Amino acid sequence: MNNNSTDAIKGDILVVDDHLENVNLLFTMLSEHGYEVRQVINGRQALQTAQYDPPDLILLDILMPEMDGYEICRKLKACPETQQIPVIFLSALDDVWDKVKAFDIGGVDYITKPFDVPEVLARVEHQLTIVRQQRQLTEQNIRLQQEIQERQIIQQQLQQLNQELLRSNTDLEQFNFIVSHDLRQPLTSINANAQLLAIKSHRFLDEDSKQCVTRILEGTNHMDQLLRDLFAYARLGGTDTSKFQPTDCNLALNQALDNLYQAIEKSQAIINHDPLPTIRADRVQLVTLFQNILSNAIKYCREEVPQVNVSVRQTDTEYLFTIQDNGIGIEPESLKTIFKLFQRLHSLQDYPGSGIGLAICKKIVECHGGRIWADSLPNVGSKFYFTIPQYK
Ligand SMILES: Nc1ncnc2c1ncn2[C@@H]1O[C@H](COP(=O)(O)OP(=O)(O)OP(=O)(O)O)[C@@H](O)[C@H]1O
Ligand SMILES: [Mg+2]
Repeated sequence: MNNNSTDAIKGDILVVDDHLENVNLLFTMLSEHGYEVRQVINGRQALQTAQYDPPDLILLDILMPEMDGYEICRKLKACPETQQIPVIFLSALDDVWDKVKAFDIGGVDYITKPFDVPEVLARVEHQLTIVRQQRQLTEQNIRLQQEIQERQIIQQQLQQLNQELLRSNTDLEQFNFIVSHDLRQPLTSINANAQLLAIKSHRFLDEDSKQCVTRILEGTNHMDQLLRDLFAYARLGGTDTSKFQPTDCNLALNQALDNLYQAIEKSQAIINHDPLPTIRADRVQLVTLFQNILSNAIKYCREEVPQVNVSVRQTDTEYLFTIQDNGIGIEPESLKTIFKLFQRLHSLQDYPGSGIGLAICKKIVECHGGRIWADSLPNVGSKFYFTIPQYK
């Protein structure tokens, strides 16, 4: 069909009639109403034109010498390039059998001569509307098919990724098992034997050797803690968010404070908090989150008694928690790195730790759909912020 038909041209029509006055009348009438009209006067020309540049619609006279309209229509319907073009028959014949025959061989409508202008226009426009709608449907179908194909490709890619993820999850589980079991077993053995050595050979060891045994014990204890923390960190990756429950942050915070009882007692830390909300969360992870940030706030203190304040602010979409301390503070250039695994700003001698606590906090907050960051002034104190989205 004529792809050049633009919005201005309402349709491309081929008129086939051997009577020039009919052709001229139709040409004038249709052109004046915005249609592009081509005219031929016999069947041979009609078939050639329709095949070479298919029109949107054919107006076909029945009574013509050489090849009549029925024959032309049959040939058009038999040819793949032209079979979709709607044909309206034009004829002076008004016998009901002529009309039936016209529809039988594939005509879509029938107009009797002499023409009634409004009737011709209405019938032509009706058929062209159907053509346009069919084209729109075909285009929509093509787009849908393309979308289906694209989605199928994405689905295949997702399946592949899922399989890879499953494989790497299995590797990770194996790795976790090695970390939690195989690596800790020899460590426990070294630790137990060092303790035995310290007890049994206490009398025979000089001060230097006793120091060595103490360092072995400290080293194995530290490594054991490191492996536990690493295991806890690796396990966080597989959090199932659908299992989050409404969790009272006051209870989670109190649990964290209970767990930090010894450190609080020792440092005489003063800890205050706002009334906290109930959020959708994993309770155990929330306790760990508070505990890790609070333990830092107590651990990284200056000479004075640690003072910690936990506050919360609610926005339209999330809760913003702030945990403020009066500790040693953090240099601005280190504020981002502290959330990375094994990033410590101090030596073990100055402050014990594995450098995993805040990395675990980051993972927990992100698993809950939030963000975590810090703000600090060296020798004044730090503020740790995290957000948790509200679920309505
Ligand atoms: N409140 C704080 N004040 C000052 N420095 C802090 C504070 N919190 C964290 N830091 C710095 O950030 C580093 C990382 O903290 P993180 O909690 O991850 O590790 P850690 O405390 O060293 O070890 P652990 O894994 O046992 O918690 C710390 O080593 C410390 O230097
Ligand atoms: Mg810590």
